[in-house]
Amino acid sequence: MENEVHEPQLELFKTEKNNGKVDLTSTFADNMKLPIHRWYRYTAGFSGPWVRELISTENGQNVLDPFGGSGTVMLESEFAGINSIGIEAHPYVFRIAKAKLSWKIDPQEFKDSARKLLSQAKEKNITKSKYPKLIEQCYPKEIIEKLEALKQAWFESNDNTELKELNWFVITSILRTTSPVGTAQWQYIQPSKTKGRVLDAFLAFEAKVYDMAQDMQNMQRKYPNASNSEVYMEDARHMPSVPDAWADLVITSPPYANNYDYADATRLEMTFWGDIEGWGDLQDKVRQFLVTACTQHVTKLKDKADEILDSPLLTPIRAEIKAVFNELAETRLTRGGKKNYHLMIIAYFNDLAKVFHELRRVTKSGCTVCFVVGDSAPYGVYVPVDKWLGELAISAGFDSYEFEKLRDRNTKWKNRKHRVPLHEGRLWIKG
Ligand SMILES: C[S@@+](CC[C@H](N)C(=O)[O-])C[C@H]1O[C@@H](n2cnc3c(N)ncnc32)[C@H](O)[C@@H]1O
Repeated sequence: MENEVHEPQLELFKTEKNNGKVDLTSTFADNMKLPIHRWYRYTAGFSGPWVRELISTENGQNVLDPFGGSGTVMLESEFAGINSIGIEAHPYVFRIAKAKLSWKIDPQEFKDSARKLLSQAKEKNITKSKYPKLIEQCYPKEIIEKLEALKQAWFESNDNTELKELNWFVITSILRTTSPVGTAQWQYIQPSKTKGRVLDAFLAFEAKVYDMAQDMQNMQRKYPNASNSEVYMEDARHMPSVPDAWADLVITSPPYANNYDYADATRLEMTFWGDIEGWGDLQDKVRQFLVTACTQHVTKLKDKADEILDSPLLTPIRAEIKAVFNELAETRLTRGGKKNYHLMIIAYFNDLAKVFHELRRVTKSGCTVCFVVGDSAPYGVYVPVDKWLGELAISAGFDSYEFEKLRDRNTKWKNRKHRVPLHEGRLWIKG
């Protein structure tokens, strides 16, 4: 994979000292020590403690996350006992968030249902011999058969939806730890690499259920007055489930304009469950619902560039974005990959402009909106992401914006083909 622009999502929220202050936006890795948050390693996520602090300092009562991901904001809002709504457009990530938000169900009931599923899986005699190529690349026969047995038992189970989704979550969350090939969580699959430690599928299932039930029990005791959040599989550009003037605080992080393909990142899991047959299905099943943030997304936009550039939504940044578009269109012709970054960039800002208009509808006057964002430089052409997003927010009806830099990026990246300094931080939008 070419790494021209793509900074691994892993790097996005790293804890760093900034002028002696610890950056609380932090990495999702911190969440791996925290009950419930740790159920699923979503490296595109930000840290629970940072969200907690923001909710309390900003005194949010109705909190919205339009790019909800694995549910960090909703979980912390529940612990704090305040209202929250999350929107997530990726069908697989939505299910992950929804399952984590089931932490309040009876842990004993969950354990009983999971154990029943496991014992039914152990009884199965798997005769199936052909699996999708990716699955065969990722697992030897004896492991595939155990996972297949769990999957078949899951399809046959007639538990209620919430329990069934939690069991789906357990099976899904062991898919990477049970594969001996390179399948680092929330990364592209690397069938040519091998992992040192692999867990037996049935043991991994049992251990995961045990850990989750422990967390449920502890957190239910700790937060007896937790609130109930809502999460919807909708598009941040159009969120019909969020009432007008509902949110007083928005905490979020959109996909960065850095060519990370959120759809491809879940190919293993979606293939395993039969949601997709191969890479070609990702566009229809996932990417079309997401904001444009990778070049795989834009092949069909070739004839629409002028229309997008003339869109009234881009008025406040039109001159600047046209200049960047033209420079990228020229630069790509000199590069081997000929990547369509010029199309990706205009589609990205057009999409985010729609998000700001929708956010204006669903936020109260005087609200605070916090976007964790990073800038980018495809083919070494600088894109001032925070400034442009701020301008688009003002044009959508917000009063002011200010960027608070948290850290520099692209300072240690050895393989990069450009040396443009990049940064990451919080874009504060008010009004
Ligand atoms: C940086 S991640 C957010 C992670 C989240 N803060 C967490 O802690 O888990 C961005 C998320 O936006 C989602 N997304 C992309 N396009 C979207 C859209 N149009 N509407 C809603 N969500 C979208 C992606 O699937 C991804 O989960």
